[in-house]
Amino acid sequence: MSTAEKLARLSELRRDALQGGGPARVEQQHGRGKLTARERLDSLLDDGTFEELDAFVTHRATDFGLDDERYLGDGVVTGHGLIDGRAVFVYAQDFTVFGGSLSEAHAEKICKVMDLAMQTGAPIIGLSDSGGARIQEGVASLGGYAEIFLRNTLASGVVPQISLILGPCAGGAVYSPAITDFTIMAEGTSYMFVTGPNVVKTVTHEEVDFDGLGGARVHNERSGVAQFMAAGEPQAIALARTLLGYLPQNNVELTPLNDEWKDPDVSGADLEALIPDSPQRSYDMHIAIRGLVDAGSFLEVHAGFARNIICGFARIEGRSVGIVAQQPEVLAGVLDIDASDKGARFVRTCDCFNVPLITLVDVPGFLPGVDQEHRGIIRHGAKLLYAYCEATVPKLTVITRKAYGGAYDVMSSKHVRGDLNFAWPTAEIAVMGVEGAVNIIFRDDIEAAKDPATERARLVAEYEARFANPYIAAARGYVDEVILPSETRGRLASGLRVLEGKRQALPAKKHGNIPL
Ligand code: HXC
Repeated sequence: MSTAEKLARLSELRRDALQGGGPARVEQQHGRGKLTARERLDSLLDDGTFEELDAFVTHRATDFGLDDERYLGDGVVTGHGLIDGRAVFVYAQDFTVFGGSLSEAHAEKICKVMDLAMQTGAPIIGLSDSGGARIQEGVASLGGYAEIFLRNTLASGVVPQISLILGPCAGGAVYSPAITDFTIMAEGTSYMFVTGPNVVKTVTHEEVDFDGLGGARVHNERSGVAQFMAAGEPQAIALARTLLGYLPQNNVELTPLNDEWKDPDVSGADLEALIPDSPQRSYDMHIAIRGLVDAGSFLEVHAGFARNIICGFARIEGRSVGIVAQQPEVLAGVLDIDASDKGARFVRTCDCFNVPLITLVDVPGFLPGVDQEHRGIIRHGAKLLYAYCEATVPKLTVITRKAYGGAYDVMSSKHVRGDLNFAWPTAEIAVMGVEGAVNIIFRDDIEAAKDPATERARLVAEYEARFANPYIAAARGYVDEVILPSETRGRLASGLRVLEGKRQALPAKKHGNIPL
């Protein structure tokens, strides 16, 4: 073969590899409203930056007639590229080849880019669209999955891992996205479940379709398995790019500053009018967040799940921060099981990737009730407490209103190593709400009074004036400064600057034993 022929052969093989499962299957994929693996990578990465690896890998199976059916790349496109100029490693399963199913060779390709991501300290983004284990390969495929799960676990807390679910993701395959930092699902075309509708029907006699069992809405609003739901594939891919902008390349780097920040779109005056006179009335904590962060910078995480707590990334004067805040508009901002899980996960995500935490507190306590107690509010609430205690990133806290009971301690209080703890003049820091406290400590006086209702009202007013404020905590230094709502953004911005060099270590240990 001449040199020219050898060069031409490479071009021919490259053309073959680009075909995936062939034009008919590509058409089918488009007909389902889905892009191909390569189209997805093109829109995920900066123009022209994708560099493919292992395009010529094929499976090695021979059973079930597979030796006659080989496709270059074997159902997954892998490599690296840039997102906003920063290196990332990627893999995208190709549903047009054996339904994107995972063979031994397919798994090895994924493991190769995961290993490179770890060695170079770059994020890894996986795009799932797969029928699961390549059935013809049996245990070799199961082993391949386990190799991926192991790498997901080893990479956890070292490089950011983002999973996009853009088609089926079923069986044990779900556990790779589940170990990664973020799962983004596209509404209508993606689903995740451990066992599908047919098995569910056989075992529990429940009738449910794919979407009802494990669609994007289910996992974003009910199970909490996914952190983001996008209206479609293009939006899911755009979201992954945006999300990465809030994260560093790895656990020893900081997130780059964004120089193009703008002032908040809610004014200081609006913040001062936010807290209602009555502690029984709610307000929208999203307005407080918008008054503190750079305009348009808030990216809510887990927006549809446990809405009584708000978690999300934002920027303050261009610096990436993680916000955790109660939402008084939902269940009065109480901490329940799901809110504790959601908050704990987000606090740990920020902590492992050096994203400072800003906590906005308006919490009446943990949710009372038999259901919550029996389902383990103690164990789940402990996760949030543990996560805050363990976090060593800069921790800035603003108590906007209620900080009652154990929830006061949990929510990034001074006692769990909050670095800068502010309170608004509207803050009430106490063991419990005024009414409850008076009912308990003055029960005998109220019962003995000639006019119990009047006496009770007098005691409530007295207690409120004395204790329902931030000044007792400030007198002990548990609150570093009582500040006006309009001063808060400035204090947070300067706090973030001064805390940038913060160094705090945990005692040497293999790892802690977070109550799971
Ligand atoms: C081999 C597979 C496959 C698989 C799909 N295909 N899944 N080939 N192994 N797991 C092939 C199909 O045979 C078909 O090939 C092509 O991919 C497209 O599949 P369709 O069925 O035509 O597509 P669709 O109607 O959209 O249905 C998609 C699907 C269905 C729901 C994913 O294919 C399906 O149920 N597949 C099997 C899923 C499954 O049971 N996987 C194993 C789960 S257990 P042709 O040539 O006909 O086009 C598991 C364990 C993991 O994954 C454990 C990890 C620890």
